[in-house]
Amino acid sequence: MLTQTGNIVRIAPNRYSVSDPAAVRIIYGIGSPFSKPSFYTPFVGLIPEHPPAFTELSNAKHAAARKRHANLYAMSSLVMYEPFVEKVNGELLDRLDGFAQSGQSFDLFKWMQLYAMDVIGEITIGRSFGMIEAGKDHDGLLWAVDFINMEYGPKIGLLPELHPWYLWIANVFSINDHTKIVRTAIEREIAKRKDAESLPDREDFMTKLLAGLRIGKLEQYDVNNVIGANIGAGSETSGIAFSAVIYYLVQNPECMSKVLNELDSAQLSNTVKFKEGQTLKYLQAVIKEALRLHAMVGMLLAREVGEGGAVVADTFFPQGSVVGINPHVIHQDKSIFGEDADKFNPDRWLGDKEKTSNMEKHFLATFEFSIAPGSTWKTYSGFFIKPSIHVQISRRRHRGEQTTIA
Ligand code: HEM
Repeated sequence: MLTQTGNIVRIAPNRYSVSDPAAVRIIYGIGSPFSKPSFYTPFVGLIPEHPPAFTELSNAKHAAARKRHANLYAMSSLVMYEPFVEKVNGELLDRLDGFAQSGQSFDLFKWMQLYAMDVIGEITIGRSFGMIEAGKDHDGLLWAVDFINMEYGPKIGLLPELHPWYLWIANVFSINDHTKIVRTAIEREIAKRKDAESLPDREDFMTKLLAGLRIGKLEQYDVNNVIGANIGAGSETSGIAFSAVIYYLVQNPECMSKVLNELDSAQLSNTVKFKEGQTLKYLQAVIKEALRLHAMVGMLLAREVGEGGAVVADTFFPQGSVVGINPHVIHQDKSIFGEDADKFNPDRWLGDKEKTSNMEKHFLATFEFSIAPGSTWKTYSGFFIKPSIHVQISRRRHRGEQTTIA
């Protein structure tokens, strides 16, 4: 049953989708009294009494966990993880080169997700998961993560009372289900690092977590939860983001030319560093615009109303009501994004500021993508909106080079 009043849509009993821009601050603002509803519990709490931040329902416990983990995700740490990804970047480029030479179309999201998972592996557990090398999800980890985010989590999340029953059945019948696959991977990697004769000479997530454990700043469940969160929350989202950016650029050749010109006129390392990427204003606008139009999350970012109730979008909701905003709804709001909110227009992020470009030409962009004949952008909705499209790729000409069609 779906009823609608102004900017609130009741999408299920006691569940309301709000489109009022002012509600963003009210529901998600710092210190908001709204908490996560039990919808989140089936998104893998491997240690039910100590769930990860993503599935933690108590605001106080969530804030405490975030505080304990803050330095792991601080910008200064993220930049330090950057060199660990070089090898995986090289492997992806080799694969893309292979596709460019053969002219064979390939599943864009699949390869972006394999890449994202290997990157997560490098920065989190100190090694790639070997997905690009294998060319597939060789140990079922991606399947398990996908099943959680796209099937089990969003569906059982609407009937979370079923979750403990499922866990009980999976345990009694020793089913090697999605939770076990993820847990086994996490425990295996922690044990490997703990048992290693020599420690790696790099400060990845695992190094920092085990150091925190040794000095008593962190508990064992922190270690498991952070590693699990990166594996569970990092690969699909990043794979979708990379795919969306490439898709919208291919669909908008004039934007693609602008990106390539920007890259050509900037002075960049062979693999663009994070700091360098920040200076590419148009590329940054393209990324924001692609993520605006293809927001990762396709469901409400649901929150439960606390004691005393709350007023959202000029409407009173009693305690226990579930309210939230679907990113796709707010991202299409013309009062925020303009009359052309449904169009891909990266310039909207640049305002009136004059664009500057570095005049020293420096080759970087390597490949050109195109959509494979007969393939279209299809999406499948779970918690995330996962795309599917086949693309072809060719090596981009260097400046002054003759055209060669791969
Ligand atoms: C473009 C990429 C990404 C997008 C769009 C994205 C989006 C989101 C969103 C919307 C949430 C909040 C969900 C909610 O409250 O219901 C979230 C939470 C989270 N994400 Fe991401 N994410 C991305 C990449 C990553 C990566 C790469 C990692 C880890 C390596 C990660 C780890 C997490 C964690 C741990 C949480 C829970 C945080 C908390 O509740 O305090 N995400 N993400």
